[in-house]
Amino acid sequence: MTPCLILTGFMGTGKSSIAPIVARRLGWPYIDSDEVLVARAGKSIAAIFESEGEAQFRKLEREVIADLSRDRPRCPQSGNPRPAVIATGGGVLMDDANYQALKHAGVIICLSARPEVIARRVERSRTRRPKLLEGGQPLGERIAEMLEQRKDAYARAEAVVDTSDLTVERAAEQVLAVFIKLGAKRCAASA
Ligand code: S3P
Repeated sequence: MTPCLILTGFMGTGKSSIAPIVARRLGWPYIDSDEVLVARAGKSIAAIFESEGEAQFRKLEREVIADLSRDRPRCPQSGNPRPAVIATGGGVLMDDANYQALKHAGVIICLSARPEVIARRVERSRTRRPKLLEGGQPLGERIAEMLEQRKDAYARAEAVVDTSDLTVERAAEQVLAVFIKLGAKRCAASA
């Protein structure tokens, strides 16, 4: 079975811009776990955090990740699950159940970027990210704090691509190159 390509990493590292390009190049469908969650909940992530709190958001997120890891569309000929490129929300790997499910479904590649680059990108973005507003700290300080808290979880990915100095096209190329290399290594290991 061809493994999915799972793109994760901190907010502002480029997951949602890079994943569709990678998917197009592979000819695979692209799925964004946050988009699935928002469609199911019928409200934005910011609204879920506001009205129901983070614990409820994480519960919904866990359900979405479990479903995407398990119930992918199947090939009508072989009946095998069809591969896809799955971009996740930035907090997904913090939960061990999510990590185990995704690891089983495919190759996890983590995007990273320098804190000041992340700050610049999220400031420019129109997406509201409630986790960055917690504590009322300056943005740069909050990002540095969260990156420190999350570094071990992100380090569990099979590979990391730093997008700080890359265009989305170059970053997509690097992700593809890493994915192909990791896939070849897996094939050699199972031969
Ligand atoms: C989160 C990242 C967000 C979204 C939610 C929580 C996080 O996704 O899932 O606001 O905890 O890092 P993006 O990384 O796509 O912004």
